[in-house]
Amino acid sequence: MVQTRVLPYGPEAIAAAARLVGRGFPVAVPTETVYGLAADAADGEAVARIYEAKGRPAFNPLIVHVLNVDQAADLAAFNAAARSLAERWWPGPLTLVLPLRPGSGIASLVTAGLPTIAVRAPAHRAMRDLLIATGKPLAAPSANRSGRISPTRAEHVRDGLRGRIRLIVDDGPTRHGLESTIVAVDGDKLRLLRPGPVDLGLKLAAAGEIRSPGQLASHYAPSKPLRLEASSAEPGEWLIGFGAVEGDATLSAPGDLVEAAATLFDRLHEAERQPQPRIAVAPVPDQGLGAAINDRLRRAAAGRRNVYAGGSAGGALGPA
Ligand code: TXA
Ligand code: MG
Repeated sequence: MVQTRVLPYGPEAIAAAARLVGRGFPVAVPTETVYGLAADAADGEAVARIYEAKGRPAFNPLIVHVLNVDQAADLAAFNAAARSLAERWWPGPLTLVLPLRPGSGIASLVTAGLPTIAVRAPAHRAMRDLLIATGKPLAAPSANRSGRISPTRAEHVRDGLRGRIRLIVDDGPTRHGLESTIVAVDGDKLRLLRPGPVDLGLKLAAAGEIRSPGQLASHYAPSKPLRLEASSAEPGEWLIGFGAVEGDATLSAPGDLVEAAATLFDRLHEAERQPQPRIAVAPVPDQGLGAAINDRLRRAAAGRRNVYAGGSAGGALGPA
């Protein structure tokens, strides 16, 4: 349990929020849609602490907040269609899902290992001030406990996350009270993944069409067979260790779940690149963040044909 401070919007609150973000702690800050729980998108452990605070049982990719198209273009590949949408609607409640740029520096936990990234430039003064003060792209899901409704007031955040986060910046009720519209730009094709305040006249994409983790069979399955709960490597296996199980690489040598969550997708990608034809992973305790790690590992072990059903809370359009 940590002490949760609530500070009214102003220079002091923003400075305190920026300091916490710099130290790797998520902070709650309003946007024009809902309150978000923001952390440095390049810091995997800070992002893991977002999941820890929300108590999310699974890793869904997060939206990365930026000041403008220029900053977004460092992270995502904009084609003409994406650029014109951003120029028309940013800053504002429109999120674009675009190809992730290699070398973006974004933590793999933010995109949940996907080759795409969701970006938006928010219009709210508090989030914009925090983006300016930190100078960093900020990953921020809605600042609610997993499975609960999104917070539109600082009190909602406090009720849900008190004792789990260090700071809430209070700037009154949010304007829209509804999460941003999410549109995937795929060449010149636009697909509406989540309806929201910005109406582009698109119909919601059919479930099968949405390349979004909550709805895809297994959005990230390694191309190699994966064995769980392994205490040592069998011949032909690349072992991803944890704690006392050393392995060829490790999720976290000290057995730290925050570190393990932050490194999970990197370790899986790394394992795919090895000459060994199979992957094994050491046991990870099923508490706290460990539950989300195990959820992801089980899906990865089940492979692409295994339907991503049940378990996760409704997927891309469900409570997040
Ligand atoms: O209004 C909003 O968008 C708020 C404020 C805080 O900005 N944020 C928000 O984030 O609603 P969150 O994490 O609650 O929802 C993010 C949604 C999820 O449904 C997720 O699956 C989807 O965005 N998403 C993120 N990255 C994606 C990607 N690469 N492909 C498809 N969907 C993605
Ligand atoms: Mg949410």
